[in-house]
Amino acid sequence: MKNKLKKFVLLWGFFNVVLCCSDCFSLCPALGGCLGSSRDAQCPGAVAVKKRIDCHPQPGASQEACEARGCTWCSTDVPNAPWCFFPEDSPYGYSRAGNIEKTDKGWRVTLNKRQSLSLFGNDISPIVLEAEFQTKDRLRFRLYDPNKQRFEVPLKIEGPGVTAEEANYEVEFSEDSTHFTVKRKSTGTVLWDSPLVDLFFSNQFLQITTTVPSTSVYGFGEHEHPTFKHNMDFSTYGMYARDQAPTSFANLYGVHPFYMCVEPDSNAHGVLLLNSNAQDVTLSPNPSLTFRTIGGIFDFYLFLGPTPENVIQQYTEAIGRPHMPAYWSLGFQLSRWGYGSLDVLKQTVDRMHRYDIPYDVQHLDIDYMERRLDFTYDKVNFAGLPEYIQELKKKGMHNIVILDPFITKDEEPGTYKPYDLGQEMGVWVNNSDGVTPAVGQAWPPGDSVFPDYTNPRTVEWWTQLCLEFKDVLDYDGIWIDMNEPSNFLRGQYPGCADNEINNPPYIPSISDRSLSQKTLCPDSKTYLGEHYNTHSLFGWSQTEPTFNVVQQATGKRAFVLSRSTFVGSGKHGAHWLGDNFSQWKDLRRSIIGILEFNLFGIPYIGADICGFNYNTTYELCLRWMQLGSFYPFSRNHNAEGNSEQDPAVFGDEFARISRATLLIRYSLLPYLYTLFYESHVHGNTVVRSLMHEFTSDQQTHGIDTAFLWGPAFMIAPVLDEGARSVDVYFPDAEWFDYYTGLKVPSAWKKNYSTVSAPLSKIPLFIRGGYILPEQAPATTTTKSRLNPFGLIIALDEQGEASGSLFWDDGDSIDTIENENYFLAKYTFSKGNLKTEILKNGYPGADTLKYNNITILGLKLRPQAVTLNGRSIHGDAFSFEMSGKLTLRISAPLTQELNIKFY
Ligand code: GLC
Repeated sequence: MKNKLKKFVLLWGFFNVVLCCSDCFSLCPALGGCLGSSRDAQCPGAVAVKKRIDCHPQPGASQEACEARGCTWCSTDVPNAPWCFFPEDSPYGYSRAGNIEKTDKGWRVTLNKRQSLSLFGNDISPIVLEAEFQTKDRLRFRLYDPNKQRFEVPLKIEGPGVTAEEANYEVEFSEDSTHFTVKRKSTGTVLWDSPLVDLFFSNQFLQITTTVPSTSVYGFGEHEHPTFKHNMDFSTYGMYARDQAPTSFANLYGVHPFYMCVEPDSNAHGVLLLNSNAQDVTLSPNPSLTFRTIGGIFDFYLFLGPTPENVIQQYTEAIGRPHMPAYWSLGFQLSRWGYGSLDVLKQTVDRMHRYDIPYDVQHLDIDYMERRLDFTYDKVNFAGLPEYIQELKKKGMHNIVILDPFITKDEEPGTYKPYDLGQEMGVWVNNSDGVTPAVGQAWPPGDSVFPDYTNPRTVEWWTQLCLEFKDVLDYDGIWIDMNEPSNFLRGQYPGCADNEINNPPYIPSISDRSLSQKTLCPDSKTYLGEHYNTHSLFGWSQTEPTFNVVQQATGKRAFVLSRSTFVGSGKHGAHWLGDNFSQWKDLRRSIIGILEFNLFGIPYIGADICGFNYNTTYELCLRWMQLGSFYPFSRNHNAEGNSEQDPAVFGDEFARISRATLLIRYSLLPYLYTLFYESHVHGNTVVRSLMHEFTSDQQTHGIDTAFLWGPAFMIAPVLDEGARSVDVYFPDAEWFDYYTGLKVPSAWKKNYSTVSAPLSKIPLFIRGGYILPEQAPATTTTKSRLNPFGLIIALDEQGEASGSLFWDDGDSIDTIENENYFLAKYTFSKGNLKTEILKNGYPGADTLKYNNITILGLKLRPQAVTLNGRSIHGDAFSFEMSGKLTLRISAPLTQELNIKFY
């Protein structure tokens, strides 16, 4: 194989050296340097292009400026590669000072700055590198200033501590103390390797570089990434919460400095940088990562896996397990900004009902408010809204109201309580003086102030208002939007002062290279500290109090949908991918977004179905309804001024197809809900990439056009206009067509095969080896929850399968913690299905029944079937030549089944 590759590269190189060099980096490590060295002929003695680390990360590099800072200048036509880079013998960095000192849970060592040279001024020396062996699979290592407390994210990640012998990792310095490394003990793979000479730790510029063991790197957010598996071609991604519609390379609403890397031998590990300052990361072809942040400390957590699923379980164990969503919130949801009146809303709801489209939740966007003022509703255009909400509730539906985090200060005193009370309680983000409120402009008329949710007084104020508002509009959940926080000005009035906080010497690679664009000035003051440090924590700090008040107000499980998120937000909130566009590209990239947020511990995630900005088209919207029917959070939402795009507005055929697809979702909700249970309890992902489940198959590493629900259900949507088929990759397993039950031919395994996908159909497949619980669908989950259950048993090559069902009342708080739930385990082996009830703590399960068992992949027609020892009449089962058997039974859900096929 290696030889073949070499030949290919040499030939290619003969014709087009330049092209090869820029495109073949992923092959380079295997080829011992590839053409990186030939390219370096241009720069004798310089480090290979793929190893370059930018010595002038801010714009405006020139040879003069580069050489003045002691770095090497050499041009290259490799796209994005830096021309100004650190030489091998960098004059920068740190060196070890003194001995390694043992601590309670690990060790620490002091590092001294090597030279007086500085890139951005105010370098800190000494600094401390401390390793904390938190658990056998989680290492924390941090770099901090021992003489001054710097800002740290208030998210405590602690572990009991293990000895170096117990840990599955080994942390060490290279013999000459120039590198800090972390290895996986079992394989010796180097997971982290940071040269101390590339380390920076100054007041407003911290930089560290590490090699990674492969180019299969995933994560970092929030961005619209073009691919799930990153290009390691010197791409740089900035992270800083911003009100920014998804655009390539832009920093979006939330901040997730977390990545997962699959090692060459298919083990996986994950790394979190717990830092909330504006930051960026460069992914280089070496392969390596360079982290730069402009404040706080370097606080890294490494998760050892070794499977991708283990990595996420360990990650969410550290940052907080995802919350358990209410069952109704897994139903289809409809929204639009710009119904404009209750009449239009009613017409929309009516046509959804006329077509019997499954539909559980209606959202109310800012147009329900009076002049866009939080905690009000428009008593003219939406007169009768409270009563209408009750009508919908009677139909078993739920509703969500939007609230924005800005409060106008310009109403008549005494007429707008949210402002008056907030002013009295002193709950706003303040200007740099720490006393006067920061004033900006957003949706409400006049100027606005911004609640500071890091302040406990603000939480009190918010709680009171949300509780009171429940008596005005009977909401079931709250959608918290614009919480980056968004401000329509560049900084608050009168603009940001020119100082090093507002204009630091290095501004990470974020849109407009500005920290105050569309938000507040960094030198504003929050309770927790300077906005410079806490900016990206705004949405995060709003989510938990909102979750708590929704629980308090409704007495039920909370639904909170937040636009801005940070590490750990999944514990209390859901997320959607923001203001996407009605374009085919956005349809495709939404899959990448939902996969990434599953890595970030926010599995309850979706994108605006049919696109938010622009007018959608019939075909795009139809394909999007099909894909969106399988988003964990499934909501069609649209911006003001665009044409209507609910699934009932395009006529009979569109409505029929949307209905059929949503009915599939609804019938599989017991499976999806069980996945959420696993996510809440064990930290599992709900949506997964094929790589996640078939990690050792390299071909899966780059697949982001199909995805899985849990381990067992593959969704392969149509993503191109005009396409009536999809090329689907089938990893090595048994796969069954969801619609026909037909087994996918063996020859298709480990290959792409073209699968037909007329406009009416989204290709769906079930993986052999799994049992999926299902339930007869209905137009709301309130109704479907009463229907009979079924099991789809998809057999693997050995004729075996297993699965489980979690069930509870769907919306009470803490049913798992209080053990008010039902949990069954299913096993099929040697022609025998057994159910085992692991927990029978939900009395509501007593009235439910199984009525349908489907087995896929049976080799022979059974001659007889018995249920708990009693034979089942032949009429009750049917067998198709495809190996599909359908069995009609009537058995209580809470009875353990033993079905034998002879
Ligand atoms: C923001 C939200 C969008 C919402 C709009 C009006 O742009 O991202 O979903 O419709 O504000 O509230």
